[in-house]
Amino acid sequence: MRRPVMAGNWKMFKTQAEARAYFSALVPLVQGSTHCDVIVAPPFTALAAAVEAVRGTAISIAAQNMHWEVEGAFTGEVSSGMLVEAGCRAVIIAHSERRQFFGETDETANKRVKAALAAGLTPILCVGELLAEREGGKTEEVLERQFQGGVAALTGAEFSRIILAYEPVWAIGTGRTATPEIAAEAHRFLRRQAAASFTPERAAGLRILYGGSVKPDNIKGLMAQVEIDGALVGGASLKAEAFASIVNF
Ligand code: PGA
Repeated sequence: MRRPVMAGNWKMFKTQAEARAYFSALVPLVQGSTHCDVIVAPPFTALAAAVEAVRGTAISIAAQNMHWEVEGAFTGEVSSGMLVEAGCRAVIIAHSERRQFFGETDETANKRVKAALAAGLTPILCVGELLAEREGGKTEEVLERQFQGGVAALTGAEFSRIILAYEPVWAIGTGRTATPEIAAEAHRFLRRQAAASFTPERAAGLRILYGGSVKPDNIKGLMAQVEIDGALVGGASLKAEAFASIVNF
């Protein structure tokens, strides 16, 4: 059985003070939620406050991005070691907004995944097609390229430590969720890719999250699909009550 994961991605929202207020509301609401892993990804500046606020709970804190080099002259970037020291346990890699607005590629996704693993972080690797790609019948081609590019040259043991997130770009922040069936079809395709590249056992253990307009009122239907192992939640993760009801679907 794959243990579900509910992950919240705050994107560029919340100050340190807002992060503290959020966790004082969230912690009591998910204290008894032992059925899944709970991860929250604040912006870099709120990481330390978030780590402090979840100390002693089962909630893990993730970063939203990282550079692949250990250190260097890379203005504006943050390394894996810095995230580990700040208390992060996971890191989102190659979110579609990073790909769309900041020029990230499958090649840099792969470098980040490897560096995160080497530092002991859990990479949450994001893949997903654009609307034009779906309408042009290219969904599987895009998912195959992004998946294979992202996990290239990982050992089986390394692969077992990643979390994959399927996030169709047309469903992110648009209120247009993929139906549970559409999401499950993509998840099945990704799991077949994993089986072919690694082993069926490793593929069976891979946790694949769905992301894109996940809300308290659609999480149940999504989680009813055996292929869907959890959610990567943007907008609805910003309110502690909404995220808690997703966690406690
Ligand atoms: P959304 O974002 O839930 O606001 O659609 C999802 C994501 O970008 O991870």
